[in-house]
Amino acid sequence: MAKIKSIAHKGFIDEFEARSTDPKIVAKELRERLLENKVVKLTLGMHISDLRAFFDGVTDELGEPLNIAEDFSNAGEQTGERWMEIRYDEDIPDLAAFRHSKNAQPLHTDESYIDDPCDVMVFYCKNKAPAGGQTCFVDGSALVERMKVIAPELLDKLSTTDVCYEKAGNKRVEKIIDLSIPGNPLLNFNYTCISKNETPENKKLNQDFLEFLVSHVRGSFLEIPVGLKPGESVYWWDHYVLHGRNPFEAYKTDDRFIWKTGVKWVD
Ligand SMILES: [Fe+2]
Repeated sequence: MAKIKSIAHKGFIDEFEARSTDPKIVAKELRERLLENKVVKLTLGMHISDLRAFFDGVTDELGEPLNIAEDFSNAGEQTGERWMEIRYDEDIPDLAAFRHSKNAQPLHTDESYIDDPCDVMVFYCKNKAPAGGQTCFVDGSALVERMKVIAPELLDKLSTTDVCYEKAGNKRVEKIIDLSIPGNPLLNFNYTCISKNETPENKKLNQDFLEFLVSHVRGSFLEIPVGLKPGESVYWWDHYVLHGRNPFEAYKTDDRFIWKTGVKWVD
């Protein structure tokens, strides 16, 4: 298993309002809340004109920022930049990339193919879609409890089979649901990034889990939508939850615009 910070969170989703423009003060409270909760949304209690400088500061203090950006036009090759744009682009066909489309995005984890993954992912919002576009979160523990009842055989396979995800020269092999830490399941899943070299059985397992999520989890009580207005941000432990996106209304390029990065947790 990749090295992942192990935490027994008490809560799932938390929200607070920043009452300071000092990234150090905001990040300190954020870290405290992230030790208690798997997802934390941050709203701003005042206007901050330079959002990039503010969120650079917050992520500097939150942990060790990793340069996660990928180049869509170059098969997802990493660019070495900290922030990656997730924005609607009217010139890119909807099915070419979730990052630039207005489609719903299936539930997944972000770091499925990264050998040395981020612990906490970060979104901050530049432009909000006129409607829709919320990021939807599923608590990994609640998902596992539900699967114990309605899909125990699938859960057994997912928690005992090593599966390889791969993209642009990066790859990682994990259980899709790792139950080795009692009461604290870890998830690693991105349907579209299954390795081309995987066995037919493992490709089927990847497909079966996607179909389970579509049929039983998407739109169910397990999925909690979190919407962001410009300046708002959300932070989540990538391996402790699944996330996806609601479809949204968009007409022209940049109608929805999110900046994304991730950090390694530093104790
Ligand atoms: Fe994602």
